[in-house]
Amino acid sequence: MAELVFTPPNELADETLIQQEAAAVERIQRARAILGDRVVILGHHYQRDEVVQFADFQGDSYQLSKEGAKVAAKYIVFAGVHFMAESAVILGRSDQVVILPNMQAGCSMADMANAEQVLTAWDELEQVFGADPAEHIMPITYMNSAANLKAFVGRHGGTVCTSSNARGALEWAFAQREKVFFFPDQHLGRNTGKAMGIPLDQMVLWNPFKPFGGLTDAQILNAKIILWQGHCSVHQQFRPEHVDLWRKHYSDINIIVHPECMMEVVDKADYVGSTSYIVNMIDKAPADSKWAVGTEVHLVNRLKNRNPDKFVTLLSPFSCLCATMYRISPLDLANALENLVEGRVINQIFVDEEVQHYARLALDRMLAIPK
Ligand code: 13P
Ligand code: SF4
Repeated sequence: MAELVFTPPNELADETLIQQEAAAVERIQRARAILGDRVVILGHHYQRDEVVQFADFQGDSYQLSKEGAKVAAKYIVFAGVHFMAESAVILGRSDQVVILPNMQAGCSMADMANAEQVLTAWDELEQVFGADPAEHIMPITYMNSAANLKAFVGRHGGTVCTSSNARGALEWAFAQREKVFFFPDQHLGRNTGKAMGIPLDQMVLWNPFKPFGGLTDAQILNAKIILWQGHCSVHQQFRPEHVDLWRKHYSDINIIVHPECMMEVVDKADYVGSTSYIVNMIDKAPADSKWAVGTEVHLVNRLKNRNPDKFVTLLSPFSCLCATMYRISPLDLANALENLVEGRVINQIFVDEEVQHYARLALDRMLAIPK
């Protein structure tokens, strides 16, 4: 009698998924061949290999916004997260269609600041200053934020920044106003302000769940930068102890981190920069050099695989996965493209016209700031 083998349901599911994902590669190739130059796929560095291999352009969030603005194709399929796709809508032509293959691909940091909270903060700042806060304070939102927050800064004379131009944005702001209100990533704001020589006691933390951010009038009036209490759940997993550990094992190791890491990690690192900066540094590094990298695991693994002559490792012993970016699977991409072949648009990203207008002001200001 044949032996009965029990297969747990999870394994069955995984097996099916693996087969479906493998089949999705052919489905994507077929659909792309039919769609031709009517579609362009943009991919962020954190996207998984099985998806990003199909990107016509891969980059950091600044490069993707610049590239998105130049796309001639009618359809832009964004292999990234929601705020990136919104920016492509804002910077793109009105006849273009931007598609996010999985609508669950958001950003936990972007969700840490919403328009209601930011408007409340702005009203409270008005009470502290006894005047329109825009007379004193320049609002800057990190690219990782919803379109209506980009519109908010656009309306109040402010700009957007990414991890690759945050210093330029702060310098631009201080040339016009004495203070900056920076959201939603406290770490990018603090790390950039510190690199510019702003003392820590002049960078205060605004807690959106407390009246007046939990700050006294004196703290607000003394501050150069008011930092929103937001962070990236992926980058906060890197700790200064991880840097110490790698240095203990390899005295010649280079530590390179993204500026969304906490200040204590950035202070100990040798190099700090955007995802594209990290890619360039490691790709161009000499053979046999060693790198511990503080950023999302898919990018680190890709760098490790394509640089076999170098030692490349994740800085943290934990997985450091951007779970929202990961939600876009090859199946989602295949679905989005096959629907386009059939003349159907699924998962289109829309941004309200007025929001688009003001958000575009802010994004155009960003693109005009020298890097
Ligand atoms: P980059 O601007 O470096 O691409 O980073 C975007 C991001 O979301 C990092 O967490
Ligand atoms: Fe957002 Fe962090 Fe993911 Fe970047 S890595 S998209 S900041 S959650």
